[in-house]
Amino acid sequence: MSHHPDNTSTVPVADTKSGLRHRVRAWKQEGATIGLVPTMGALHHGHLSLVKRIREACDKVVVSIFVNPAQFAAGEDLDAYPRQVADDLEALATAAADLAYIPAGGEIYPDGFATLVKVRDMGDILCGVHRPGHFDGVTTVVAKLLLQCAPDTAIFGEKDYQQLQIIRRMATDLDIPVTILGGKIIRDEDGLAASSRNVYLSKDERKTAVNLPRILQDAVARAPASKDLRRLERDAAAALKKAGFNSVDYVEIRDADNLALIKKITRPARILAAARIGKTRLIDNMPVDPAPPGG
Ligand code: PAJ
Repeated sequence: MSHHPDNTSTVPVADTKSGLRHRVRAWKQEGATIGLVPTMGALHHGHLSLVKRIREACDKVVVSIFVNPAQFAAGEDLDAYPRQVADDLEALATAAADLAYIPAGGEIYPDGFATLVKVRDMGDILCGVHRPGHFDGVTTVVAKLLLQCAPDTAIFGEKDYQQLQIIRRMATDLDIPVTILGGKIIRDEDGLAASSRNVYLSKDERKTAVNLPRILQDAVARAPASKDLRRLERDAAAALKKAGFNSVDYVEIRDADNLALIKKITRPARILAAARIGKTRLIDNMPVDPAPPGG
């Protein structure tokens, strides 16, 4: 099926799970495959790259927009989180999404809701240390979105690498019949990973922020030959502080699949970091691959 986005196109919206299911069931009866892109809105080119990527795998693309209170800890930016549904719908029309699912809170967390979906271990490291309960909120809402939509495929960005690996684990552990895809990190021209939270940054803070990918890139170059990855991590954290980050939650090099700490780069690894500028918390990560033999 071909899509011809134009300026006048609009995207249909479902705001209830029954409305969502009704559409998805009709598409499945026609033999179409369904792709789901879960988001919290304030859509940028990172999100839209996921729409484009999943379109290659599926006939119909559903994008959900739900700012999920359960994944924000007390004192985090739930109230300030950017909300711009009209702009988002315009962006989704241009990207030729087939349906926007924008549930009201009660569709996700009705009165009496009491269930928590928790992935142990992988949820308690890295961001899990600094955002207690965050990943339980993510896995609970993502499990619900997968069950409400029942897509063949769902896609999550490598921008949130720990989230992606946790969701893969959850889908496997719970036998959720869905293929989970990972989408590459989309960066702005200055190298900073696109994020809905980048709007919080002042001009000066943004200049500081671009040091995050630079410093990680530098560590990536050193890691394969390094005999002391913990020291490399400490050096990168110190470099971030020197560059103007007021605190560094972590810089860690871990196994790319199970996120275990590693001592040497013998198989695909990942460097992951979170650091704060003013009130804004930024995360980023990059692949770290073993040096080629003899190299
Ligand atoms: P949100 O931050 O809106 O991100 C939605 C999806 O877009 C996630 O899979 C995220 O990894 C991806 N994404 C964001 N920025 C990206 C970038 N620069 N490049 C590539 N992908 C990017 O992540 C969430 O929402 C929520 O936790 C959610 C999964 C929707 C559950 O509430």
